[in-house]
Amino acid sequence: MDKELDWSHLSFGYIPTDYNVRCYYRDGKWGDIEVSQSETIDLHIAATCLHYGQEIFEGLKAFRGKDGKVRVFRLEENARRIIESAKGIMMEPVPVELFTEMVKKVVKLNERFVPPYGSGASLYIRPLEIGISAQVGVKPAKEYLFLILVSPVGPYFKEGFKPTNICIMREFDRVAPKGTGRWKVGGNYAASLEAGEKAHSLGYSAVLYLDPKEKKYLDECGPANFFAIKDGKYITPASESILPSITNKSLMQLARDMGIEVEARHIPIDELADIDEAAACGTAAVASPVGEIDDLDTGVKYVVSKDGQPGPVTTALYNKLRAIQLGEEEDVHGWNTIID
Ligand SMILES: Cc1ncc(COP(=O)(O)O)c(C=O)c1O
Repeated sequence: MDKELDWSHLSFGYIPTDYNVRCYYRDGKWGDIEVSQSETIDLHIAATCLHYGQEIFEGLKAFRGKDGKVRVFRLEENARRIIESAKGIMMEPVPVELFTEMVKKVVKLNERFVPPYGSGASLYIRPLEIGISAQVGVKPAKEYLFLILVSPVGPYFKEGFKPTNICIMREFDRVAPKGTGRWKVGGNYAASLEAGEKAHSLGYSAVLYLDPKEKKYLDECGPANFFAIKDGKYITPASESILPSITNKSLMQLARDMGIEVEARHIPIDELADIDEAAACGTAAVASPVGEIDDLDTGVKYVVSKDGQPGPVTTALYNKLRAIQLGEEEDVHGWNTIID
């Protein structure tokens, strides 16, 4: 970094930093943590990640707080989730302690890339695990590489916290009913690219996927979960084919703390006609309010935000979560890990 980055105008892209951290699983055990300045890896041409998609990842953020301290949000939850992803596609799980140590180390090593408080930007942390041993038959690898890279990312809402429109399209599924949707497996994202690009080309910010079995219930919203506010309740889809979002889990807790009832259950599409607010939620945006949901197959348009503004509950939840991440409000649930 020769000159100061323009923190508030960074996109959600890749900016090189000083270091990444790596650890190899070989001969039945995880080795020592290696610190690397290289942006590339050397891979066997028959590695299982290349041929059979043995690849899983995570996404979390570090924030510079009001007090100048660096906080990583819900580190342990991400450590637990990548273990589930590993088990899901027969990879070697990374122990929570190793994951934690490596996240702390990579953030500390790249501390100068943690954007300043007030910029709206953050340091995105991307843990990645791949099968690296050679295998030509369809079988799990015996050796794995777990690495973590980081990149500063700009504020999600550059033009302000405003609703965007999303769409329903039945011609695409990102996952199968009992497939890999509940894990953070790279292949799910490959399967979502065509639908995502089509939605963007039509002016929508994301696809609201339906359950892949019956196409009757709401599933999730591109790379984010979906929640709605209906009759004062926080409702969110319960489904076997969606990723258990850590942001959604956190917002559900905050909603309960505010005295709002939470229902995680099947949500039939028709119920969209009766909701008062909706948002896509995930690490990238926390909560991205939804203006309108257009069903492109039936032509029905569900207008969620009548005045073009985010709803009061979505706004309150968004502000509360951001304030906790930035150390402006007390972290009563112990969600932040302070890097010192
Ligand atoms: C498919 C999918 N669903 C939901 C989420 C939101 O999860 P989280 O809140 O843990 O970032 C993500 C992003 O991580 C995702 O890729």
